[in-house]
Amino acid sequence: MSYKISIVGASGYTGGELMRWALLHPQMEIAQVTSERFAGTPVTKLNPNLRGFTQAEFVSSKQLNTDVDTLFLCLPHKVSAPFVKQYIDTGVKIIDLSADFRLHNPKTYEHYYQPHPCPELLPRAVYGLPELHREAIKKTQLVSGIGCLASSVILACAPLVKAGLIDPSRIIADSKIGSSAGGAAFDISTHHPERQGTVRAYKPTGHRHTAEMEQELNEILAANGQAANASVGFSPHAVEMVRGILSTIHAPVSRPLTDLDVWKAYRSFYSGSPFIRLVKDKGTLFKYPEVKPVVGTNFADIGFELDADHPRIVVMSAIDNLIRGSAGPAIQCFNLMHNLDEKTGLWVPGYHPI
Ligand SMILES: NC(=O)c1ccc[n+]([C@@H]2O[C@H](COP(=O)([O-])OP(=O)(O)OC[C@H]3O[C@@H](n4cnc5c(N)ncnc54)[C@H](OP(=O)(O)O)[C@@H]3O)[C@@H](O)[C@H]2O)c1
Repeated sequence: MSYKISIVGASGYTGGELMRWALLHPQMEIAQVTSERFAGTPVTKLNPNLRGFTQAEFVSSKQLNTDVDTLFLCLPHKVSAPFVKQYIDTGVKIIDLSADFRLHNPKTYEHYYQPHPCPELLPRAVYGLPELHREAIKKTQLVSGIGCLASSVILACAPLVKAGLIDPSRIIADSKIGSSAGGAAFDISTHHPERQGTVRAYKPTGHRHTAEMEQELNEILAANGQAANASVGFSPHAVEMVRGILSTIHAPVSRPLTDLDVWKAYRSFYSGSPFIRLVKDKGTLFKYPEVKPVVGTNFADIGFELDADHPRIVVMSAIDNLIRGSAGPAIQCFNLMHNLDEKTGLWVPGYHPI
């Protein structure tokens, strides 16, 4: 059986990535893909990698037909919310990759973005990280996207917070991120002469994704009956890659720990989560997570080291921002919402070497 889907904002980077996976998914059939600027243009003019796989043309979102099973919204925040508001009552399932429905508290959304245009819909959205919200995702009509940087940090910290192994109020996260995170629209910060050859801190304090990290870690603390005091000092850096995120997270340990304690926490939290790979392999060059083995895949590679000289743990988390940081979990969520195996259409390794 195939489910009809449409992708709104398909001319962008996450939309293009979603199209690629949807074309390969055994139970997805693409109905429409939208773009305002490129309406009437064949998809392969913008996505040459899809030559031979589709003859579709972009249509304007004004021609969007809701006679589909699922709508994927790959739009900028602020643009997405009105689409959700317009279509939610048709009963169509919606997976919104933007930030508009990630934060439960409209005041937090306003602090980091702008006043929310439809706060009444926020309680209907489930944060689209299957490793944390698998059961709720199965039952909901509206899934929010995840921040790519946020998810790399949340996935690294969640098991440690759940097991009470770290002080959640003193987490420091430093991420390196590739240029595709900025989307397909031109910006001086992603212009080749400005980006090439540099490593640039671009939002050392107050980054929007901090709110998602703290929200999700606080939910784990609250479920444990603990004070919701998660605090993440987060500083991302733009580096010379197109795709990929490597986050390095430092946290004080709450008691002396062994590697086995930490392994157990990760293994137990991620039992039944096929896209999380634990990486700590002393006998190889690739002893910690790094970006190249996850590029082109939906895997999050997570590794750690306990500091023998200081009471802290360092956790490394590597993902592909366009897949594991957005389109990949969106498809995991689609699979869960349709009672399919979570891995359907996503179970591929990356390239090596690349
Ligand atoms: N890039 C990442 O790594 C990443 C990771 C996680 C989450 N996200 C989130 O995913 C969303 C999409 O990101 P992206 O990187 O794919 O952005 P993008 O490359 O800039 O693409 C944006 C898409 O939205 C469409 N669009 C823009 N304004 C529109 C409007 N007013 N009405 C209808 N369509 C409109 C564009 O279509 P036109 O052709 O008409 O301009 C384009 O298809 C964002 O909310 C972003 O925060 C991105």
